[in-house]
Amino acid sequence: MGNKRLAMLTGGGDCPGLNPVIRAIVRRGIQDGYDTIGIRNGWKGMIEKNFAPLDRGSVSGILHRGGTILGTSRTNPRAMDGAIDKIFQNFKELQLDALIAIGGDDTLGVACDLYQKGLSTIGVPKTIDNDLSGTDYTFGFDTAINIAMEAIDRLHSTAESHNRVLVVELMGRHAGWITIGAGLAGGADFVLIPEFPMSMDEVAETVKKRHATGRTFSIIAVAEGFKVDGIDVTQTQELDAFGNKRLGGVGEVIACEVEKRTRFETRSVVLGHVQRGGAPTAFDRILGTRFGLKAVELVRNGQFGKMVALRGTDIIAIELQAVTKSKLVPRELYEDAKVFFG
Ligand code: F6P
Repeated sequence: MGNKRLAMLTGGGDCPGLNPVIRAIVRRGIQDGYDTIGIRNGWKGMIEKNFAPLDRGSVSGILHRGGTILGTSRTNPRAMDGAIDKIFQNFKELQLDALIAIGGDDTLGVACDLYQKGLSTIGVPKTIDNDLSGTDYTFGFDTAINIAMEAIDRLHSTAESHNRVLVVELMGRHAGWITIGAGLAGGADFVLIPEFPMSMDEVAETVKKRHATGRTFSIIAVAEGFKVDGIDVTQTQELDAFGNKRLGGVGEVIACEVEKRTRFETRSVVLGHVQRGGAPTAFDRILGTRFGLKAVELVRNGQFGKMVALRGTDIIAIELQAVTKSKLVPRELYEDAKVFFG
């Protein structure tokens, strides 16, 4: 009898730390007697049977690389006629024993549905946004937050030289983890996140008060999902296959509102995909590696319908279902950040 066959895919936005997961799955898979297969471009590849066998050589030299060697997509098989049947058919034709899906709430939501329909799936949570419940951290977040912190550090000198207000827009659709973390670490003067609304009048008043005490510049960190007077700022009206809005532009809106109300010269900067690019930090490499190793252990034990998670310093297994709940910034952390507002 041949080896057992294990496939993996990466779906959703890419994220530093994906390649360490892939490498760990392949390396542990080989040790445990699995043939490992990489499905290209997320669920799209599973529908189209686009795959490549992975061996030790194919994952050599990828530990430090950002992105995903497998490619990714935001394809949602639940929104496509016949796609779920096709996935079942291809799983069978590829003679797979298990499929590890590495992704955020959208990708793992599909994995969860497929498990409930009878497919042997395991989840590995990932997102730079860090907003998945059930796990203390997702890999990618530490890299993103360090990039965002460095940007805030750099903005200080130019804001101070020009006596300007600078608004930096950071990623985070539903949750402000990157913004509050980078804001705290980088010494932003205000943090605006989706969880805690603040009116433009309030923001402008706090800027004015700060400048009245002799400060000549301010840095405002804002999450892309922060609503201006209750409304999302989006780049287009279109939604992606999972119904997500394409956010973007809130920084510029806030900059205009602040300048109008305070008369202080204000500029905005969008950090965008820079936050997702490049090499993962040591933390993300280690977390990704440990997640990958644990995922193979779950496959070996037949613990399907589960996902790996970080709890304290331990890597544990929890129900895949947990991924459908968002993890938001708690009030205590926001209150800590507020001490440094103004
Ligand atoms: O989900 C991760 C994320 O980086 C969000 O912070 C952001 O809103 C979104 O992806 C951007 O998606 P895309 O790369 O498809 O524009």
